[in-house]
Amino acid sequence: GVAQGAYPALDELSPFGEHDGVIAVDLDGRIRYMSGIATNLYRKLGYMGDMIGRTISELETSDAGLVAEALGERRPLEREVTERGRVHIKKVIPFYEWTGPWGALQRWLAPHRMEPRLAGALLLVHDCTEARLKERQLRVKSAMIQEVHHRVKNSLQNIASLLRMQARRSTSDQVRAALEEAVNRILTVAVVHEFLAHQEASVVDMREVAQRIIRQAREVMLAPERPIHLRLEGEAVYLPTQQATSCSLVINELLQNALDHAFDGDRPGTICVRLEDLGDRVSVVVEDDGRGLPEDFQVGRGGSLGLQIVETLVTEDLKGTFELRRRAGGGAIAAATFPKTQVGGEKPWNAGE
Ligand SMILES: Nc1ncnc2c1ncn2[C@@H]1O[C@H](COP(=O)(O)OP(=O)(O)O)[C@@H](O)[C@H]1O
Ligand SMILES: [Mg+2]
Repeated sequence: GVAQGAYPALDELSPFGEHDGVIAVDLDGRIRYMSGIATNLYRKLGYMGDMIGRTISELETSDAGLVAEALGERRPLEREVTERGRVHIKKVIPFYEWTGPWGALQRWLAPHRMEPRLAGALLLVHDCTEARLKERQLRVKSAMIQEVHHRVKNSLQNIASLLRMQARRSTSDQVRAALEEAVNRILTVAVVHEFLAHQEASVVDMREVAQRIIRQAREVMLAPERPIHLRLEGEAVYLPTQQATSCSLVINELLQNALDHAFDGDRPGTICVRLEDLGDRVSVVVEDDGRGLPEDFQVGRGGSLGLQIVETLVTEDLKGTFELRRRAGGGAIAAATFPKTQVGGEKPWNAGE
């Protein structure tokens, strides 16, 4: 970027790139030297032919003004200017020559009495037109993606409210429960899109998403008088969109189960959701201190949908493992572990470096 402040120190100027042009101008503004790349850059602005010996004010660019300013201030300067559709970063560095009252003979007559005298300026030109264009395209693209996530979130929330209306009208408890579960799952997916709508990256922090799912469960599922404590443990775990969606659904399902099955009536208890980044793997644990699993319990038996969804998401989508077991001291522990994948790929994204 362009150096901060009107007159940066030499070491604050942006670096000189291999595709940058160099022009040297004397105190009269006459061009004394021009590199090949500089010639090409000015050609793009429409200046053909030899420019050595011409004055810089003949060019209808900001150059003369910038050079005059740097010479007047006797300090380097750096500006980004847009001229005839090209974006240039221009740096002007005044230079000096050593002379004395005897001119060319000074070096022999009294070298120790030579003094620096302002002699001209170097104009360094960097063409960043393409880079700026690419930056803008990227910004537009990422804004569009964010907008899409925003719309997906809105649509999912609309679908959820329609289903919720239908649930309220239902006279069958079973139908109502099923519709409410569906509402819950849809809102869980909406949470991920909501996070993606508010940031440019396509990864989300599962900790924040889990926090939100817990809040949603507390608001929707948990009657305020039930003495159940919901806790979230662990640090930030970043996952790409696809994995984040599956992982959120898993957390939601396990949390629902703990709320639905672990505690009778108004028994007090604690449910803990724990996320852990194990380097190349991620671990998700939902633990409760409730009544524990039924005697003859087996995952996937009895045709219940919740744990079947969890099983499928963990083993097929996340390529991981899932287990649900009794917790020492009462209650249940549900644990899923799965490998991290590269954004847009199958490999762990922190492997092979
Ligand atoms: N945390 C838990 N504590 C006690 N029992 C549980 C727990 N989680 C799941 N279960 C048992 O596993 C069964 C299957 O769960 P699930 O597949 O989600 O179906 P559903 O929640 O619709 O009953 C539940 O009916 C319950 O008996
Ligand atoms: Mg369930």
